Amino acid sequence: MRRDTAAGVQGQAARSLPEHVAIIMDGNGRWARGRGMARHAGHRAGAKTVRKIVEYCGQRGIHALTLFAFSSENWRRPRTEVRVLMELFLSTLDRESERLHRNNVRLRFMGAREDFPRRLQQRLLEAERLTRDNSGLQLNIAASYGGRWDISSAARRLAEAVQAGALRPEEITPERLGQEVCLAELPEPDLFIRTGGERRISNFMLWQLAYTELYFTPVLWPDFTPADLDEAFSDFAGRERRFGQTSEQVEGRESGRA
Ligand code: FPP
Repeated sequence: MRRDTAAGVQGQAARSLPEHVAIIMDGNGRWARGRGMARHAGHRAGAKTVRKIVEYCGQRGIHALTLFAFSSENWRRPRTEVRVLMELFLSTLDRESERLHRNNVRLRFMGAREDFPRRLQQRLLEAERLTRDNSGLQLNIAASYGGRWDISSAARRLAEAVQAGALRPEEITPERLGQEVCLAELPEPDLFIRTGGERRISNFMLWQLAYTELYFTPVLWPDFTPADLDEAFSDFAGRERRFGQTSEQVEGRESGRA
């Protein structure tokens, strides 16, 4: 796992392309409504965008891409919409897993997967197993996921370790808890993108986004193109990432600690 040390900070300052991109894919419903179509048509169009953006991230050499596909709160949507989304996840997995595998993509799913229908849980596992040794794009799909769920699950695991006598309470530090949250084995996201015009994080990766650059675009997810992603990358390249340090330190003109 990457730690944001002073050396890491300077590495970051020099890096113009994000290593890990996290995206809230918002605006499918409005895209469909704007065309007089049912919401599920927006989700289907959104799935096509997922394919294009995954492909493009692979081409650009992005190390990790994390997509928010279904939040803990999305279960509250109308039953028919939830059903359509489950079917879409299943059919997309069936159609795409082999192709992703051939392209050296590793798939991971994060979230309360026990909430999903058995058949889907099984497919998630199969796709993860199939792609687990792939070293190309690390593609993570957040499904039935919430940042608060993630942090509280991590805290519960630590509490259980304390109860079992395997951990002392004073050993619970941000570093230790950070090892328990989802995607601890990957670098934290450098760039967060939310499409669809809202400017919220909406319970996505609350722990992992602590130092992430945030980018909001009005483009609705089904309309989001590789050119829009390039625009986000250009914006990211112009940001100064300080991780709590001063500009002088980041630029290497001053050392870390007096
Ligand atoms: C938010 O738009 C989008 C979702 C809740 C679902 C995202 C799902 C996909 C993009 C489809 C497939 C994904 C994968 C990984 C195969 P919204 O419905 O809230 O849009 P609105 O704000 O315009 O109503």
